[in-house]
Amino acid sequence: MKWIRITETENIPPREGRVIAAGKELPADPIAIFNLGDRFVAIENRCPHGGGPLADGIVGGATVTCPLHNWRICLDSGRVSQPCDGAASTVRTFPVRVDEGVLLVGISETPR
Ligand code: FES
Repeated sequence: MKWIRITETENIPPREGRVIAAGKELPADPIAIFNLGDRFVAIENRCPHGGGPLADGIVGGATVTCPLHNWRICLDSGRVSQPCDGAASTVRTFPVRVDEGVLLVGISETPR
């Protein structure tokens, strides 16, 4: 696991998400990072339904609602929680930690 410094925590307001641009050390697909108020979570920024930008979705509890067609994705597991027939779909999740006010995202060093 490699930890990549992303930004200061204050740059992501509570209950909002931001896109982490793909970079040399990050996956090719963008990552969305969310401030849940008491912690931060990160998932792939691509809705499994039609590729919607999940960072622009509405955060409620530990889920985000896709801004395109309202699928709900659990921010902890990456699983679709609504609709039920989307439950087999998932997005990739990434570990997040805070070090002296800076967010770090963990990236697996083994190819997927
Ligand atoms: S693209 Fe996300 S619900 Fe359709």
